[in-house]
Amino acid sequence: MFDYQFLKSADPEIYESIVGEIQRENNTLELIASENFVSPAVTQALGNVMTNKYAEGLPNKRYYGGCKFVDIAEELARERACRLFDADHANVQPHSGAQANTAAFLALLKPGDKFMGMNLAHGGHLTHGSPVNISGIYFHVIPYGVRKDTGYIDLDEVEDIARREKPKLILAGASAYGREIDYAAFRQIADETGAKLMADIAHPAGLIASGLIKSSIPHAHITTTTTHKTLRGPRGGMILVGSNGENDMGITTPKGKVKKWSEVFDSAVFPGAQGGPLMHVIAAKAVAFKEALEPSFKEYSKQIISNAKTLAQALSDKGYHIVSGGTDTHVFLVDLSNRGMTGRAAERALENAGITVNKNMVPFDTQSPFVTSGIRLGPPAMTTRGMKEEQMRIIASLIDRVLSDLENEDVIRTVSKEVTELCRQFPLYDVPD
Ligand SMILES: Cc1ncc(COP(=O)(O)O)c(C=O)c1O
Repeated sequence: MFDYQFLKSADPEIYESIVGEIQRENNTLELIASENFVSPAVTQALGNVMTNKYAEGLPNKRYYGGCKFVDIAEELARERACRLFDADHANVQPHSGAQANTAAFLALLKPGDKFMGMNLAHGGHLTHGSPVNISGIYFHVIPYGVRKDTGYIDLDEVEDIARREKPKLILAGASAYGREIDYAAFRQIADETGAKLMADIAHPAGLIASGLIKSSIPHAHITTTTTHKTLRGPRGGMILVGSNGENDMGITTPKGKVKKWSEVFDSAVFPGAQGGPLMHVIAAKAVAFKEALEPSFKEYSKQIISNAKTLAQALSDKGYHIVSGGTDTHVFLVDLSNRGMTGRAAERALENAGITVNKNMVPFDTQSPFVTSGIRLGPPAMTTRGMKEEQMRIIASLIDRVLSDLENEDVIRTVSKEVTELCRQFPLYDVPD
């Protein structure tokens, strides 16, 4: 599938590391909710000569000559992104989700301004106000969280905090939250309290593009996302502005000039937060968006949700505590505190058995982020391999066997063999010679 003839002779060490990674991806069960396997077409677009090209600016408005062909790629990416999300405007240049969020903050906040983001320990992301991230260092973050009794976002709390604190921005979105987010309710709270609404749909973007869960686009002033999770594109970020008339209404800049929202966000990406865009990655984003516009992608997204529900239910049936009792999306958290083990110990044992997950804090966790009381699971990558409900039940039982006897090397060895066999039945990538 992949041709590495030049790399193999030019740099055997890097070649070997890539072959090792192909084998690891082929032979392990990838349950990290934020990972996926891109198509061969996406990897080919990624490995192309557009990496050579400087293209600061936007299509047909560049600071460099020679942009005729990269303009074609970026226009296709932008137009496809707008069709996919029913958006008015897309900026496909952010190098990552974190860069997209930084650009959004730059456009909407000044240092020291208040914004509300979901508590990291309740499922929020590092870029939503963590004290070690620019979002928490430069801005005054007021966190909101989930209800202890239900595990669902506490919209009453969001409203109370917003009325009291009058933040400039409310950020709706999460990294470890399996329930649908009610963007319309967030927008209502934002309007009532004079805040702008930013949505970060990095995790469920593919499910939103498929029309299976509620979209942020009609409600949020700005939506940011990654392109590599459920959307199954190359590693990267994107900013979307909704087709709700908001874009045309514009925003008054500090100098009193009225600009379209899209113009403000475009200049926050470049020159605000980045230099030259990664044109090879943008070409690969365009390919992934084309794939996501196919009817088969909607079937894939439906299968992800069904697989996630099945996996969560099968673990729950075995006595595992699923935060919020299940999932509406592709991801859920398992709280292991009733099993007498930490997330770190579970992650290690599962990795030794060939099952890749990540430790994760659970709401109201008493452990540190390096230890945690939970693990986060999601089947987007395994669904790409073709696995369905039957395999999710098998995976739940493999996980249970490892976690029920954490220190037992024999169990880990036997499960590891079964993992390899299961992977063999769902081939992924050819290994180069
Ligand atoms: C909700 C959310 N936003 C932003 C990001 C950051 O994306 P990246 O890792 O591409 O910077 C992530 C990554 O996991 C995320 O989950």
